[in-house]
Amino acid sequence: MIDTIDIKITKTSKSRVSEQDVNNVPFGKCFSDHMFVAEYAEGKWQKAYIQPYADIPMSFALSALHYGQAIFEGMKAYKNEKGEVSLFRPLANHNRLNISATRMAMPEIPEELFMGGLIELLRLDNAWIPSSETGSLYIRPFLIATDEAIGVRPSESYKFVIITCPAGKYYSEPVKVIVEQSYYRAVEGGVGYIKTAGNYGRSLYPTKIALDKGYQQVIWTDAKTHQYVEESGTMNLMFVIDNTVITPQLSDTILAGITRDSVLSLARDWGMKAEERKISVKEIFEAHEQGRLKEAFGTGTAATIAQIIAIGYNDKEYALPPVAERKFSNKVDEVLRNIRKGRAEDKFHWMFPIK
Ligand SMILES: Cc1ncc(COP(=O)(O)O)c(C=O)c1O
Repeated sequence: MIDTIDIKITKTSKSRVSEQDVNNVPFGKCFSDHMFVAEYAEGKWQKAYIQPYADIPMSFALSALHYGQAIFEGMKAYKNEKGEVSLFRPLANHNRLNISATRMAMPEIPEELFMGGLIELLRLDNAWIPSSETGSLYIRPFLIATDEAIGVRPSESYKFVIITCPAGKYYSEPVKVIVEQSYYRAVEGGVGYIKTAGNYGRSLYPTKIALDKGYQQVIWTDAKTHQYVEESGTMNLMFVIDNTVITPQLSDTILAGITRDSVLSLARDWGMKAEERKISVKEIFEAHEQGRLKEAFGTGTAATIAQIIAIGYNDKEYALPPVAERKFSNKVDEVLRNIRKGRAEDKFHWMFPIK
């Protein structure tokens, strides 16, 4: 462990920010001027530095590529009307990254390294943070195994890197989703509860089949019976039946979404009943038939709320109530935006200001 954080900073000689309209760049392809890197070897974090965004030279034997010791986080920084910058619940992302690290036999990242690197990076790349109403700076911290050797064993060396890119609204359109009954995302005793690269790779083929059928995402169901819903695409899943918010309870097959937790906190604060429990496909369609299913949506950092307008199941498509009528999720979306933009009271102390 490094005792005091010593981040060596090498600034870019020429910023690229004036070549972009940061409020309008396509998501995920245009990276800010700088990146943070920390290197782990011989059982400890050796050094940390910020350098101009660049490719990293690497061996084709890199262990992350062959054996999948690769974990990541997704989080955002927001700029309010006064130009002040804040992160949304960054310590929750740090905590989740370390949960992922433990499961993948990788070293934990000390808080001072994660937060110290992130804060310095945001100070340097402040001009890359969109100030538009729905804009934000997407932050991708990740940890990869960097041993250059073939052989299945935990790597002895790692790189922890943070890169960032400007983001507008991620999913602007409501989505149609299909209940997945053949493939599964996660299994008990597996790695569904962490953010490891393989979870995303394995989801691509079932999602491609769903896309070919006209659906943007799948609803993942439990691996044993395919009767209970778990997540939708890369989002947690929520339903409003009558006046109750219902979401699958956390387990080792479900990622503990930070947006999920925030939505549940808001619901309870507003006096709504919020249940975390098993929810079956049957229960959802029965509630739909009885006109009690009011809302269905995904929650996640990328979109905050992704409205689900139709669900496909057993070759039928079920249309859900119009988005405009969805009081709860529309209010959550607005309130979270207002908290992030500094316009609403941050009563849960979710915002972490960058001075
Ligand atoms: C599989 C999965 N579920 C849920 C989420 C939502 O989590 P969060 O709200 O922390 O972004 C994500 C995104 O990180 C995810 O990848």
